[in-house]
Amino acid sequence: MSQKLNPQIPLVEFRDVSFAINGGASIIDQLNLIVSQGETLVLLGESGCGKTTTLRLINRLLSPTSGAVLVESRSTTEWDVIALRRRTGYVIQEAGLFPHFTVAENVALVPMLEHWEKPRVDDRVREMLALVGLDAARFADRYPRELSGGQRQRVGVARALAADPPLLLMDEPFGALDPLTRASLQKEFAELKSRLGKTVIFVTHDVREALLLGTRIALMDKGKIVLLERPESFVKSSNKLAQAYLETLKTDLVLAP
Ligand SMILES: Nc1ncnc2c1ncn2[C@@H]1O[C@H](COP(=O)(O)OP(=O)(O)O)[C@@H](O)[C@H]1O
Ligand SMILES: [Mg+2]
Repeated sequence: MSQKLNPQIPLVEFRDVSFAINGGASIIDQLNLIVSQGETLVLLGESGCGKTTTLRLINRLLSPTSGAVLVESRSTTEWDVIALRRRTGYVIQEAGLFPHFTVAENVALVPMLEHWEKPRVDDRVREMLALVGLDAARFADRYPRELSGGQRQRVGVARALAADPPLLLMDEPFGALDPLTRASLQKEFAELKSRLGKTVIFVTHDVREALLLGTRIALMDKGKIVLLERPESFVKSSNKLAQAYLETLKTDLVLAP
């Protein structure tokens, strides 16, 4: 299912995008950004800086107050919203699975909406569960409450990939997991996304995760992108906020005497 990638082609473009609610202060302030095919663009920033709002402007859960967000060169406001959502996989913290659907039903959701034949859906569900390291025989008929947090996130990723969308939007998908589970899912996802050739926009407040997964890191502050760099340049940046993040990596392990 890997896709032909052309790094010259912008998949998502923000043109002077601002967003405010009911004439209030700008939550997103004159944002400009181009994300090319095959990139993993990480939006890094503190809680409240506008990361989730930026993602929601891409799949048109929100529309810009001014400026335009283009997906595959077409403004989100000109897309048929259903078609747009089916071209974008969306993974959120706590996976956002439907609690009354089994694992298989959750993963099958978009293929069913696209009226795939039942055998093709079943094959796809098995393939996707295997891809994220879950044995279909054990997990397909379970309900989300019968899974661990890490397993739920795996199902969330499988569901987002099921209809093979070119673009994945991920909003702190591993944020609620314990550190060991998070580290192993991060590693697996890093491997998976390069193998599948997806374009990913990934939100985090964790600089370690940003450096591990990002081909570029957009550092956000108060609704603006204040720094946009590849990881190797990000770690050398003199930007104060970037340095504050990098400081958190240096914290030495201090043991009581
Ligand atoms: N529906 C809303 N009504 C009012 N303010 C909102 C709404 N959604 C988000 N905000 C505000 O916009 C800012 C950015 O929010 P958000 O994009 O969720 O930030 P992040 O994901 O970086 O934590 C925050 O100050 C938040 O309080
Ligand atoms: Mg958020």
